[in-house]
Amino acid sequence: MSKQMSHLDNIPSTPGKFKMDKSPYIHNRLRWHSSLAKLTFWSFMFLGLILIFFFRSPSSNPLPQDPSRRSLRTYNWGGPAWEKRVRSSARIRSRNGISVLVTGAAGFVGTHVSAALKRRGDGVLGLDNFNDYYDPSLKRARQALLERSGIFIVEGDINDSALLRKLFEVVAFTHVMHLAAQAGVRYAMENPGSYVHSNIAGFVNLLEVCKSANPQPAIVWASSSSVYGLNTKVPFSERDRTDQPASLYAATKKAGEEIAHTYNHIYGLSLTGLRFFTVYGPWGRPDMAYFFFTRDILKGKSISIFEAANHGTVARDFTYIDDIVKGCLAALDTAEKSTGSGGKKKGPAQLRVFNLGNTSPVPVSDLVSILERLLKVNAKRNIMKLPRNGDVQFTHANISLAQRELGYKPSTDLQTGLKKFVRWYLSYYSGGKKAAG
Ligand SMILES: NC(=O)c1ccc[n+]([C@@H]2O[C@H](COP(=O)([O-])OP(=O)(O)OC[C@H]3O[C@@H](n4cnc5c(N)ncnc54)[C@H](O)[C@@H]3O)[C@@H](O)[C@H]2O)c1
Repeated sequence: MSKQMSHLDNIPSTPGKFKMDKSPYIHNRLRWHSSLAKLTFWSFMFLGLILIFFFRSPSSNPLPQDPSRRSLRTYNWGGPAWEKRVRSSARIRSRNGISVLVTGAAGFVGTHVSAALKRRGDGVLGLDNFNDYYDPSLKRARQALLERSGIFIVEGDINDSALLRKLFEVVAFTHVMHLAAQAGVRYAMENPGSYVHSNIAGFVNLLEVCKSANPQPAIVWASSSSVYGLNTKVPFSERDRTDQPASLYAATKKAGEEIAHTYNHIYGLSLTGLRFFTVYGPWGRPDMAYFFFTRDILKGKSISIFEAANHGTVARDFTYIDDIVKGCLAALDTAEKSTGSGGKKKGPAQLRVFNLGNTSPVPVSDLVSILERLLKVNAKRNIMKLPRNGDVQFTHANISLAQRELGYKPSTDLQTGLKKFVRWYLSYYSGGKKAAG
């Protein structure tokens, strides 16, 4: 994107370049320069600037130009002070603690999972590219929140192999909680390349580094309920077919599940995929309906509520963030070790997929009624036909597998969870200090 800027742009031109300028002004200046003292002065200036450049960006890694990506930047990382921060953030502070690399840590789920791990004494290091798919200031605010509890988020892209290898060199992570992704169903029609970049290429890059790490970490990663696509049998079970995705987003998550299978099979990586069902809560994502409905209701703007053919209800299995966090931690805690080493498989490794939902789908119109009551404002409802842009009519999770294997038991209903979300929303955007999109 336009924000891509090489650090080389900050370096002055070479001395040879000055000679190319033929203006009379420059001829006079050249005579002035001819004294030995001035030449020495400019040589020192030049040397000094080179030194500043090397000290300020010890290991900067420009990423390749890719017009499909938002906010591709040059990230600076490396150096003794940086390594010290990485080590300190990832240090385990409890007896049976684990050390976890959390990708997408400045994201909605990543922030909550990182904070929960840190609270119980695990070592946590975040990684996020802070892209501007939605308001990056919200990501920065989450970063500040995590920083206060001692969590460092490294700014970088999961496609940057050199950075990932460096992180594993500095810390022997026992686990990776992989949450970095291009989320959102509708945006896939606008920027398909960003889904391929983060959800496919980025995931493969991360797995490549994990398979070569010694010891290999166990990986828990976010798939999505969207892999159930156009299925009509409810509730959705892990045994159901997942070969009719309704969006490119869903297709990339499904691809991720197949890629996970491959890396488990060839390299012995322990892999657990979690199919989240519409997660909501404080510090949530502004591109999700519960969030922008809240914003628009408060602004007095009309909101579009979709209905399926023949006035069919559109419903979602809304799952509160704290329940999702419990599921993530349980998945990390029950993950078996990877069996490979040095890129070679030594025996079969664990491969799992779980639904993490709430098992009680709620019509989107009911979601709006709850928001109206909590905000004490009537919504201007605009009922529209569900467009064919990737959204499905309903989602409903069968969670018996997660219940059995992870002890997963969601306990927050939509009314309670939305109350907490609205309280956070009003305080975060209070007094018009911050504008919600
Ligand atoms: N929130 C939901 O309802 C939901 C539902 C199903 C699945 N998921 C999945 O859960 C995970 C977390 O979702 P979320 O709601 O927290 O989304 P989010 O967008 O808030 O978080 C994702 C984070 O990843 C970062 N990121 C994206 N691409 C990156 C890259 N190439 N390198 C480094 N960082 C990158 C983003 O900057 C962002 O902070 C995602 O994998 C998402 O697909 C979420």
